[in-house]
Order: sequence, then structure tokens, then C-alpha cells
Amino acid sequence: MTQVIRTVAELRPLVRAWKATGDLVGVVPTMGALHEGHLSLARRGKAECARVITTIFVNPKQFNNPDDLKKYPRTEEADVALLASVGVDVVFIPQPDEVYPEGFITTVSVGGVSEPLEGRMRPGHFDGVATVVTKLFGMTMADQGYFGQKDWQQLQVVLRLVRDLNLPITIVGCETIREADGLAMSSRNVRLTPQGRAVAGVLYSALTAAAQDIRAGHADRMAIREAAEKVRAAGFERVEYIELRDAETLMPSDDVRRPRRMLAAAWLDGVRLIDNIPV
Ligand code: PAJ
Repeated sequence: MTQVIRTVAELRPLVRAWKATGDLVGVVPTMGALHEGHLSLARRGKAECARVITTIFVNPKQFNNPDDLKKYPRTEEADVALLASVGVDVVFIPQPDEVYPEGFITTVSVGGVSEPLEGRMRPGHFDGVATVVTKLFGMTMADQGYFGQKDWQQLQVVLRLVRDLNLPITIVGCETIREADGLAMSSRNVRLTPQGRAVAGVLYSALTAAAQDIRAGHADRMAIREAAEKVRAAGFERVEYIELRDAETLMPSDDVRRPRRMLAAAWLDGVRLIDNIPV
């Protein structure tokens, strides 16, 4: 049975009781508007942990654009039904004034890996993420935390945060779930027009082709330039970045002995889409 819980006071005794019987507890932090990508994390959690908590909280601190926060889809009832269908034990929906009570003044800020790419384009975003994720770990006392590779930089920020602060949680990074044409599933995809949706898969196919070219020995910069041209030619208004980076530090990298990642952000129909793939 899936339980909806809205306060830390109700959540804590339940988690303590689970732990007392030796149950491993997993947490899947989300902002709701759930799709198969989120559900895949919850399923992985259920496969590995006796108990899974999915959190739903649209975190105002990580939105640097007030309009994006206002437009963020909210579909609580449908979300709870989907989570029940995958057997999540608790849907934890904390209230904004419990997450950020009057006088709240602490920020968790991860250096280095937070700074480039998304960090540069969205000032304050990763401070907001790191702060709320730290709080959600504290609130849920989970043993394992499930995050998607879809938000690759966020995953690296969370891994660094957990290591640096000795948080007693193991982070599990999960594969990106895609639509049939390769478009990474995202709560923002519903804002695309039918015409935009029809070409959105080009972001992934262009990245895939560039990664193949680079592995085949083509120059990094040429392959990236071609990818950006394909994305623009498909009808995207703007390519914010396509970058080849060290997969862990997110710093520029031409060291082919270390894992590298190609990451991109581009605008289509006024919607900002991000994606990334291994190289
Ligand atoms: P949200 O965008 O709701 O995503 C919640 C989790 O689902 C993240 O770990 C994200 O990487 C993962 N996810 C999203 N789309 C996915 C896809 N197509 N395939 C696999 N995983 C996917 O990310 C956030 O919320 C917030 O920043 C949060 C971590 C909850 C902090 O507020």
C-alpha cells in the first residue's frame, strides 16, 4: 500500500520502524509531473531496497527563472497513482514552509563541478539543488538515493556533495529513458508544439553521430560544430552549448583515457532541452 505523507513528523517514525527491522530504504527525489524516466528510478529502487520513498517537491530555490517555476507542471494526483502502480511505499510531499521555514539561512554549495555548463547558464541552480537534496536526505534518512543520468551534471554534483560531507547514503545513477525518436523524457516536453516535438529527437541523434565521429578519430571541435549545425537546421532556435567534458569533473577534457561525456542544452519552442551521452 502506498502512503502519502506530507510532514517530517509523520515520516520519521515510519522510517525508524523500517530500519529497526533491517529494511534498506531508498529515496527518489523528484519535482513531480512524473513520466517513465522517474518511474524507472522508482522501479530500480524497489528492486534494490525493501522500502522506497519518492519525494515530490517543486523546489523554488533551484529555479533561476520565475516564469519556469510558475509554468512547472503540477500533477499530484496522477503522480501518486503512477507511484502506487510501481509499488512505492511512501510518496513524501513536504510543504514549502516546512522545507524553508521562516529564518531559513543555510545554503549547501558544491564548488568545481557545479560551476560550468548548467551552473554558468543557471546561476544559483545547483546551490538550490544541493541544499534541497541535502535536506531530503536528512528528512528521509534513506540509505540509497536514485538519480537519473539525464541530469548528468546534477548527478556529479550530488556524488561530490555526498562524498565531501560524508552523508550516509549511496548514490545510484540510472540510465536516461528516451522516447522512440531518442528525445530524453522530461516534464518540460509537454510544452513543445507538435511541430517542435516532431524534430526534438534531432538533439540526441546529432550528439550520437558526433560521439561516433569522435570515437572514429574525427577532431572533437569539428564533430561538435556539425552537431550544432544539425540541431539548428532542424528548427531549434538556439544551441546554448554542446561540450565534450571529463565525465566526473565536467572540466574540458581531451584525455581519451578518462571517461568523457558530451553534454548539450538547446532551445526549441521556447523550451530549454538538455541531454548528454558518453563518448
Ligand atoms: P526532476 O526533474 O523531477 O527529476 C527527478 C529525477 O528523475 C532526477 O534524478 C532526474 O535525473 C531523473 N530523470 C528525469 N528525466 C529522466 C529520464 N528521461 N531518464 C532517467 N531519469 C530521469 O532533478 C530534479 O527533479 C530535481 O533537481 C531534484 C533532484 C528533485 C531536486 O529538486
